Amino acid sequence: MLDSVIEIAKQAGKFLKENEGKISEINEKGSFTNLVTDIDRGSEAMIKEFVQKNFPDHGILAEESGASSPTSEYRWIIDPLDGTTNFTHAFPVYCVSIAVEQKGEVIAGAVYDPNFDELFSAEKGSGAYLNGRKLHVTTADKLEKSMLATGFPYDVRNNPFNCVQHFEEFLLKAQAVRRLGSAALDICYVAAGRLDGFWEVNLHPWDTAAAVLITTEAGGRVTGFKGERYSIYQRDIVLSNGMIHEEMLEIIKKNL
Ligand code: IPD
Ligand code: CA
Ligand code: CA
Repeated sequence: MLDSVIEIAKQAGKFLKENEGKISEINEKGSFTNLVTDIDRGSEAMIKEFVQKNFPDHGILAEESGASSPTSEYRWIIDPLDGTTNFTHAFPVYCVSIAVEQKGEVIAGAVYDPNFDELFSAEKGSGAYLNGRKLHVTTADKLEKSMLATGFPYDVRNNPFNCVQHFEEFLLKAQAVRRLGSAALDICYVAAGRLDGFWEVNLHPWDTAAAVLITTEAGGRVTGFKGERYSIYQRDIVLSNGMIHEEMLEIIKKNL
């Protein structure tokens, strides 16, 4: 199963890279900050066609076209382009994210970054890999030694639950805070030991499903904002190397 996920994630990623700067249509999804392009749609169509051809009885949950065959045992969860705003600016931080769920549990996932030709992948119980190299989270044990990342929801202007207060406090307590613009890559960077922690609100299963499996398989910890068990169907997430998790939760809970 993972081989197929990887094959189509790479194909779709190459399609994105080839089409950078060649967008012919940009539409707003409810606000001027939330965009979708013909390239998001093209990538999604390519991935769905692959799934329908090779796994005709599997269900699909895809960002731009929604859910199909909800009764199937397997479901592909697809973000055809994570980092659309970056992509529209030819800012080279974006990826394809594809996960497969079996009876509600994510069993395989791949995140492909065509700019660095980096493939992050994992199968439940078998570890996480970056271009074939096994991944481990960091061992930073304090926020002051940690580099974190976050993102802001598209409705940041009128949603009081928007990470801005958390951002301010983490900026003062952590070694550094970054904002890359692709949640799937942010999360995979925790798996790869490039970041020590990540938090965000308003995410969707297609942003997190593959990357969260990759990070937990690399030894990371994931919860909701209250420290509860995480589900890809909830909107808030705190993810870390495990060592700084409680310190992150303390700051997040203070600003709920
Ligand atoms: C977005 C990115 C961004 C995050 C947003 C997501 P999209 O996904 O992951 O980093 O802050 O919340 O919606 O719209 O580019 O697929
Ligand atoms: Ca996304
Ligand atoms: Ca997307």
